[in-house]
Amino acid sequence: METNETHQTSLRVNGTEYRLDLVPWVSLLDALREKIHLTGTKKGCDHGQCGACTVLIDGKRVLSCLTLGVMKDGAEITTIEGIADGENLHPVQKAFIEHDAFQCGYCTPGQICSAIGMIQEGKAKTREDVQELMSGNLCRCGANRGIIDAIMEVKEGGHHE
Ligand code: FES
Ligand code: FES
Repeated sequence: METNETHQTSLRVNGTEYRLDLVPWVSLLDALREKIHLTGTKKGCDHGQCGACTVLIDGKRVLSCLTLGVMKDGAEITTIEGIADGENLHPVQKAFIEHDAFQCGYCTPGQICSAIGMIQEGKAKTREDVQELMSGNLCRCGANRGIIDAIMEVKEGGHHE
C-alpha cells in the first residue's frame, strides 16, 4: 500500500457533512483545522497532555490530537463552533463568561467541550470530583478557579437552557 494513499472519510461536524480525502495519519485535530477550516479547536501540545483540542464525538469528550481522522468516518463531531444553539450560548458558555473563566482564551474551547462531556458523564458529584475530572484540561493563565466555579454552577442547575 502506498503510504500516502488517501482514504475517503465522511465527518459530520456540527451537523454538516464533510467528505474528505485523508491520509491515514492525519489527526482529527488537523482535519478540523486545516481541511474544514474550523480553527476554534486549539492545538496546544499535540501530544494528549493539555486538553486544548478537546471535541465531542457522539457526545463524548475526546482529544482530537490523539484521534485519527480516518477512524472517525461517519462519526458525529461537535466542536466549539457548534456548541451554541444559534444566537443562544450554551449554559456552560454563559457560566464561563459570568465567572471570568478565561483570560487569553486559548484553553477555553477545550475546557468548554470537556466540561459538557464531563457533565454528561454524570460522575462528578463534588467540586473535588469536577477538579479531578477536568484535570486533563490545563490552563496556563490560572483561570482554573473560575472554570470550576462555572462548571459547578451549571451542574447545580444555576443555568437552564
Ligand atoms: S493539543 Fe491535544 S491534548 Fe494538547
Ligand atoms: S485562559 Fe489562557 S490558557 Fe486558559
